[in-house]
Amino acid sequence: MTTSYCDDLDALAADVLSRLETAVDGREGPWRTPMLATAGPEGPSARVVVIRSIDPRTRRLEIFTDARSAKVREIEADPRVALAFWDPTAQQQLRMSAVARSVGDREQIDSRWHAIGAIGQALYDGDPARFVVIEAVWTEWDWLWIGGKPHRRARFSWLRGVPEGRWIDP
Ligand SMILES: Cc1cc2nc3c(=O)[nH]c(=O)nc-3n(C[C@H](O)[C@H](O)[C@H](O)COP(=O)(O)O)c2cc1C
Repeated sequence: MTTSYCDDLDALAADVLSRLETAVDGREGPWRTPMLATAGPEGPSARVVVIRSIDPRTRRLEIFTDARSAKVREIEADPRVALAFWDPTAQQQLRMSAVARSVGDREQIDSRWHAIGAIGQALYDGDPARFVVIEAVWTEWDWLWIGGKPHRRARFSWLRGVPEGRWIDP
């Protein structure tokens, strides 16, 4: 991270987005496997997931999972989720608030099912009925860089549709 865009919130948001797209589309990098937290009946529950696709225009992320997994029921009961990403090389943490749901559109699910191929399908014992596509639309980002002193922290909100950024201290 260069100090030049350290003061420019728009450039920072663009950089964060580009890091996410590179990790997801390039299928590597720590930002492809964040922790997904849901509100479970016994309290919060967090687990590692793979982000399968990202659409910056709609702010939509996709995660694939098994229909029998607890997260599916938890998201159905409470769609508010959080995602936490950590990149040890870039020394950057990204926390996201998002609203999630299981995709209901059969055509959309079938296209993902075919795209994962035989190896991916084997994770579901080849049973498409067990394959669930979760979509999460982010509403807020909390970004933290601990690579220098002082640390930098910024929050971006899309609650009014357009991104609004501000620096946070600490
Ligand atoms: C590196 C890694 C990637 C994972 N990716 C996924 C994933 O994309 N989808 C998924 O449902 N579980 C994934 N898991 C397993 C979850 O962390 C979790 O154990 C499982 O989904 C059950 O969670 P739940 O019972 O809370 O729903 C992954 C685990 C690891 C370690």
